[in-house]
Amino acid sequence: MCGIIGVTCLPSSRNQKVAEIITNGLRSLEYRGYDSVGIAMIDASERRIIIKKSDGMLEQVAKRYDFPNTPGFTGIGHTRWATHGAPTQINAHPQVDCKQEIAVVHNGIVKNFLELKRELEAKGHIFKSETDTEVIAHMVEELSKNSDTFTAFKKTVSMLEGSYALALVSVKEPDKIFFARRESPLIIGISEGINLIASDIPAMLDHTNAFIPLSDGEIGWISPSHVHLESLSGEVVDLKKRIIYVDWKSDMVRKGGYPHFMIKEIHEQPQVLKNTYEGLMSDDILDRAADLLMRGEKLFVTAAGTSYHASLLLKLFFEKLTGKIVYPFIASEFRTVEHLADRGDIIMVVSQSGETIDTMKAMRAFRARGATAVAITNVMGSTIGREADFTIPMRAGPEIGVAATKTFLTQALVASLLSIKFSSKVGKMGKDEERGALAILGEAGRIAGESIAMTEGAAKGMAERIHTTKSLYFLGRGLGVPLAYEAALKLKEISYIHAEAYPAGESKHGPIALVERDFPVFFIVSSDSSDEIASNVAEMNARGALTVALAPEKFKEKLGAKVLFRVPEVDPMLEPYALTPPFQLLAYYTAVRRGYNPDRPRNLAKTVTVE
Ligand code: M6R
Repeated sequence: MCGIIGVTCLPSSRNQKVAEIITNGLRSLEYRGYDSVGIAMIDASERRIIIKKSDGMLEQVAKRYDFPNTPGFTGIGHTRWATHGAPTQINAHPQVDCKQEIAVVHNGIVKNFLELKRELEAKGHIFKSETDTEVIAHMVEELSKNSDTFTAFKKTVSMLEGSYALALVSVKEPDKIFFARRESPLIIGISEGINLIASDIPAMLDHTNAFIPLSDGEIGWISPSHVHLESLSGEVVDLKKRIIYVDWKSDMVRKGGYPHFMIKEIHEQPQVLKNTYEGLMSDDILDRAADLLMRGEKLFVTAAGTSYHASLLLKLFFEKLTGKIVYPFIASEFRTVEHLADRGDIIMVVSQSGETIDTMKAMRAFRARGATAVAITNVMGSTIGREADFTIPMRAGPEIGVAATKTFLTQALVASLLSIKFSSKVGKMGKDEERGALAILGEAGRIAGESIAMTEGAAKGMAERIHTTKSLYFLGRGLGVPLAYEAALKLKEISYIHAEAYPAGESKHGPIALVERDFPVFFIVSSDSSDEIASNVAEMNARGALTVALAPEKFKEKLGAKVLFRVPEVDPMLEPYALTPPFQLLAYYTAVRRGYNPDRPRNLAKTVTVE
């Protein structure tokens, strides 16, 4: 879950220093991990590698060591989410060999590192860190005694068990960056006089829109004017067939005047929902996806975290509109259900990044049993996007905040549009009805915008009220249940207040025991639930809870909650777009009120590429 970047550039081709390019790239990769950070630059004239690294966040470390002014035209950088070894300066990447002539950055876990380390120690190598990564630098050192660096690198990689995205530099070949990938994302960026390699696309957007996402088992090197890519078995890859062009712009990965990415991305929702809708309506991709679903025997859906909550919405939409059962499961639990999958089944896979290891493994296990995978992802060149049999783009643009916001609602929109198409194919909806339903969803962006405008002030006020709270509940019924799960995740992951979600009816079967005077209980009130939920509000009021309803004005009296977050009154299909912004805003303002940076929640990384 770390972020890695490598840049190699012709001395004459850029005004900017390469170390500055790497530092800027790390800034946009920092959401992948921020325990420590470091760079390695090859100083070819002195035949040495300059290493600068420390525990702590990029801004402080880069300033302290003056990262941008480090000399050199080839270098690598890393931002770390610790797996092996505490987040200390020694354990920070890059890791080096005995003579500091080879440096490596790594995202992933080398499972057999202890075995390799013992072997190398027996040959006299001295290790400094507790990381699994350091063995790679020493092994390349050992093997390149009798061969060129690429041969040594290939041999080293073939010995590694586990997952890796690697970038390695050596003073012996000072304008090259060697790389390899297995189960952790890695993408080459190609441009005139400069080539790059990084964990994801936003880190390279300042320099190119042309990318080659690597597949598992690929290995190679870049120099300023050449890219070499081959499979581990030595087959050279034809690059022309692999280049993708991405229409994201570099200003999309900047804060644009907002204090944090999270609040920027919440406010982007009206626009991105419009983009998602217009993009999907302008071609026949949903028709083709629905045709594929028609051929499915059983339908499964899998994902992790926020994307799982969107999958629960997908299940509700599908079952309501098509009558076809959808079996959802949490991706990391795929082993408990994979035996249910057969040839002819469909697995829908929802992943913003398209790189979440749990989701990827679930998809692979189902495909191995003959199921067809239909992916919904924001990153078309991602591993899940490429490996799925059919991929639907979310078009949310890059999401940098660790807490998913705009991608949740775009996933919800893709799910509802797909369920409408599918419903019409299976004859549950006539053509006119289909057109009408699709037109209603064209309003999703506008409703999200209205909801933000109506609830931002209330969210700030409520943050002031609950910021010292230790624990709270989100309850819902029907559509409100997945939304309550998402609300609880949002609040706990960035404000560190314990938040739990339950179907409101279930609260009586245990959770209500915690409720005492002023205990906050938030109710997410969808139109399929307002009658029964009123009794749950009354039960909580009777115990002195601070009851807060997220609901349209018309339910105010019936619900009897002590506080109302008034949201737009809309068609049931549009309710996710009315009900979601207030709890996203509440999470954001509560985190800020408690003095935390919502873009950098502790212990978390945006893309989880380790099991
Ligand atoms: O990239 P993915 O959608 O596969 O990520 C899945 C989860 O890790 C992710 O949704 C996570 O729960 C969110 N960042 C939480 O806000």
